[in-house]
Amino acid sequence: MPPLAILGSARRGGHTAQLLGRLTAGQPCEVTDLLDARIGPFSYAQDYPPDDFLPVVRRMTAARLTIFATPVYWYSYSAVMKNFIDRFSDLVLTQQDLGRQLRGRKFALMASGADAMPERSLNIVFEQFCGYLGAKCVACVYAREAGPFYDPAAAELVRVHLEKIETT
Ligand SMILES: Cc1cc2nc3c(=O)[nH]c(=O)nc-3n(C[C@H](O)[C@H](O)[C@H](O)COP(=O)(O)O)c2cc1C
Repeated sequence: MPPLAILGSARRGGHTAQLLGRLTAGQPCEVTDLLDARIGPFSYAQDYPPDDFLPVVRRMTAARLTIFATPVYWYSYSAVMKNFIDRFSDLVLTQQDLGRQLRGRKFALMASGADAMPERSLNIVFEQFCGYLGAKCVACVYAREAGPFYDPAAAELVRVHLEKIETT
């Protein structure tokens, strides 16, 4: 299955969307825009009306790479991205079989912020998130708004995984 990107900006066509377009240019990559997905907030009671969370995670289990693309809002993920990430708690509560299928999957973070430097704490929490799920964090990519990539080698690493032909 082709790679997947989860786009978590609060606006369409903003810096994060533009940057994601540059990162994935010329490569097959399906984009799920969280502005269009119905993802309810995490519920301790695990009581949800039907929504798009489980179908998106199923898609992730089949993707050779999933890119989490978020703007930096107040030193962290955007609210829509955080809402999505909170729902991964379902995978340790009532959807453990599905959660196990994420083990060994490859994830990457792509963030856009106004600061010249990446938000290190965001990279750290993303790596912890991957570690908890048993997924591999391939790279954390950052750019100031829609400008040049802060670390072109990190962007290149993501591109290598986008291009990779699945052999297993
Ligand atoms: C609510 C809000 C909070 C923000 N907080 C930060 C921040 O903490 N650090 C930062 O570098 N940029 C911050 N910014 C700037 C955005 O991260 C930056 O403009 C980004 O490129 C916006 O991407 P978007 O067009 O996809 O929303 C913030 C912007 C908004 C709207």
